Amino acid sequence: MKRELGVIGYPVKHSLSPAMHRLWLEKYGLDCEYHLLEIHPKDLADKVQGFREKKWRGFNVTIPHKVAIFSLLDEIDDTAKRFGAVNTVINHDGYLKGTNTDGGGFLQSLSHAGFAFHPAVKALIIGAGGAARAVGLALAETDSAQIDFANRTLEKAEELSAKVRETKASNVLTLERAEAELADYDLIINATSVGMEPYPDPQPLSLYHVSPAAFCVDLIYKPLQTTWLKEAEKKGCQTLNGLSMLIYQGALAFEQWFGIFPEVKGMEDFLINVLN
Ligand code: ATR
Repeated sequence: MKRELGVIGYPVKHSLSPAMHRLWLEKYGLDCEYHLLEIHPKDLADKVQGFREKKWRGFNVTIPHKVAIFSLLDEIDDTAKRFGAVNTVINHDGYLKGTNTDGGGFLQSLSHAGFAFHPAVKALIIGAGGAARAVGLALAETDSAQIDFANRTLEKAEELSAKVRETKASNVLTLERAEAELADYDLIINATSVGMEPYPDPQPLSLYHVSPAAFCVDLIYKPLQTTWLKEAEKKGCQTLNGLSMLIYQGALAFEQWFGIFPEVKGMEDFLINVLN
C-alpha cells in the first residue's frame, strides 16, 4: 500500500520539508507521497482525525499547530512534553504519537559543524519565542555550564530561563547588556526573526565585542547568510546557518517514520537550489 506523509501548517507554502523528504523517499525507494497541507486552525481537529487512516504514516507539524495539536493526539512523548511543542507525528495503526525533533536536530547540526560541548561552555540565546525555546531546552541537556537569554521582551526570556535553570545556570539579559558582555560567550545563537527576509532590521544585536573564538549560529535560512552571520564571519567566528538544523530535524523525523537515519550529505546544496 502506498503510504502518505506531509507537513501541516498555516501558511505552509514556503516549507522546504516536501522537497527534502521527497528526495529521501526516492533515495530509499519508499512507496510514499509527501504532501504540503495547508490547514486552517479551525479545521485542525477534523483533519487530524483523518490522519488516523492506515495510509498515513505520519506528518510534520509547523506553525501555528505545534502546541494546538497536543490535545488531538493519543500520546505525547517525553521529548515533546518537555519542549512544549510537537513537530512530528507517527501513525501506529490509528494511534497518533507526537514527538519533537527540533532540539535534537539543532544539537546534531552543531556537532556536525564541529562544535564540541564541554563543562565550561557559556551559551547566549538571542530571542525567547518558539525557536529559542527549542534551542534553549536542547542546550540545557548538554555538557555545558550556562545558557543565558537576551530578548527585547524580558518577561518572555525570564520564563524560558526559569525552565532551563532546572538543569543549568541561566540568566536573562537586555539586548544592550548582552552586546556589552558578548566576549564572555562561546556559543551565540540568533533565535529571533530579525534578519529574516523581508525583515527591515538587519541585526538582533551588534557583534562588536564578540570573541573570534566564539561559534555563532543564526537559525534563519532565508537569506542563507544574514547580515549578522556575515558580521560574525568578519569577526573571525565560526558560523552556522539555519538550514542545517532544518535538515537534521527532518532526518530525525524520517528516522521516526521509517527507522532509517537518511543521508544528509548533499541535502544542503539541494535545498539551496530549491530556495533560489
Ligand atoms: P519563533 O517561533 O520563530 O521563535 P516568535 O515566537 O514570534 O517566533 O519569536 C520571535 C522572536 O524574535 C522573539 O524573541 C521576538 O522578541 P519579543 O519576544 O520581544 O517579541 C524577537 N523579535 C522579533 N522582532 C524583533 C525586533 N524587531 N527586535 C528584537 N527582537 C525581535
